Amino acid sequence: CKPTSSVCVLDSKDALPCPGHTFQSIPGPTSWPLVGNLIDIIRRGGLQKQHQTVMDYHKKFGKIFRMKMGSFESVNIGAPCLLEALYRKEGNYPQRLEIKPWKAYRDLRDEAYGLLILEGKDWQRVRSTFQHKFMKPNEVVKLDGKINEVLADFLNRIGEVNMDGKINDLYFELNKWSFETICYVLYDKRFGILKENADEEATDFITAIKTMMNMFGKMMVTPVSLHKSLNTKTWQNHTAAWDCIFNTAKIYIDKKLKSGDTHGFLSDIYHNCPLTKKELYAAITELQIGGVETTANSALWAIFNLSRNPHAQDKLLKEIRDVVPAGQVPCAEHIKNMPYLKACLKESMRLSPSIPFTSRTLDRDTLLGEYSLPKGTVLMINSQALGSNEEYFDNGKQFMPERWLENKNSINPFAHVPFGIGKRMCIGRRLAELQIQLALCWLIRDYKIAATDYEPVEAVHTGTLVPNRELPVAFIHR
Ligand code: HEM
Repeated sequence: CKPTSSVCVLDSKDALPCPGHTFQSIPGPTSWPLVGNLIDIIRRGGLQKQHQTVMDYHKKFGKIFRMKMGSFESVNIGAPCLLEALYRKEGNYPQRLEIKPWKAYRDLRDEAYGLLILEGKDWQRVRSTFQHKFMKPNEVVKLDGKINEVLADFLNRIGEVNMDGKINDLYFELNKWSFETICYVLYDKRFGILKENADEEATDFITAIKTMMNMFGKMMVTPVSLHKSLNTKTWQNHTAAWDCIFNTAKIYIDKKLKSGDTHGFLSDIYHNCPLTKKELYAAITELQIGGVETTANSALWAIFNLSRNPHAQDKLLKEIRDVVPAGQVPCAEHIKNMPYLKACLKESMRLSPSIPFTSRTLDRDTLLGEYSLPKGTVLMINSQALGSNEEYFDNGKQFMPERWLENKNSINPFAHVPFGIGKRMCIGRRLAELQIQLALCWLIRDYKIAATDYEPVEAVHTGTLVPNRELPVAFIHR
């Protein structure tokens, strides 16, 4: 990100005493003993609508507000200057909100933590093991061959299951596509999940990720120890889902390592990096989790946004035809010359993000904007609230890829952070972008994606933001 201004934050040592601006004076909804704002949140649609509630609170209370969901208290930020200020003061080991349910499972089964939940020096050690392979543009472009192999199968699958343009459970088909791709990258192995008689283990893995994501939210606002000791249905389902995820990933990892093949991503990491087998299991499992639903979800929303904006789709088709010669497979080299395609994905992720917020836990007392925040404060970075704010994006409700090409210098880079920020930013970002960009090339070249109705489609929060109904889209062969 380019710097813009960093006036919002000072170290506590630099801060002048500022009596009116304590943590307690941050505005926010009325908080009641024990439940905090939970009643209001439930009244506004519950956890499934929490992203909308957060945006409404930003409108009411401004760029920074405090809220409490049961036992979980957070300070929410929705302004680029606050985000930039936070970024400029980032330490060596930025920390996200502790996901206690995930840790409770690992501790129960004596499994290690991966990148999603590791902290401190252990996080940095594991992150640097994978950083080069995932974050170096020159490394990621080498994956286009694998991505395309899977896309060829995906397009066949779309052709096979296409019933007069309708694809039954398009989201699940996209999950299979992203699963097949990340597995091919990690294990150098095709699972054939896009084929008719797909391996049940792989489809169970996808379902388990969804169950686990659905369950853990509840245990973030009520004590996980209570769920565990009462053995609630939520705890049972969460544990069973993690068992399935870990067991499946371990089978794949063991098969690869026992195969004697010393080439490829996994063998390379295992033989050349300082990770124990247990750490490798956790790290790879979490990469696999990170790479499936999020990528499928962003692709799904991009398909939806293009279906409702035929003019943009036509422009994209023209760019694809201009850059990729007929009969050739689109590759990473072509994408370099496709600014409109990149703008379409960016705009879709702004308008319909997969993940509406991420978090940071402050590792020292910090002055953020006008407020002194104590060490340990959980900050919610509300990327969806930023992306939908008219102050930062004119006509913010409209899908306008052109804004990223024509006005790009007037867009604050800290107003668009769908992959998070700083050292802890999504490690799969480049892979996901390349995957979705290539998928759009393949799809738009072969199909006109048409809207089958123009009724509203709302987003529901289930860990990611999913549509509240089957998308009203049809794939019409060109
Ligand atoms: C972290 C979004 C694809 C693996 C994150 C974060 C976000 C995010 C918002 C939190 C970043 C932060 O706190 O600053 C997305 C989206 C994706 C995507 C929208 C698809 C469009 C992937 C893929 C992988 C992956 C393909 C696997 C290769 C991870 C991991 C982390 C992470 C391991 C934790 C990183 C760390 O803490 O060091 N992602 N992600 N993600 N993502 Fe992704």
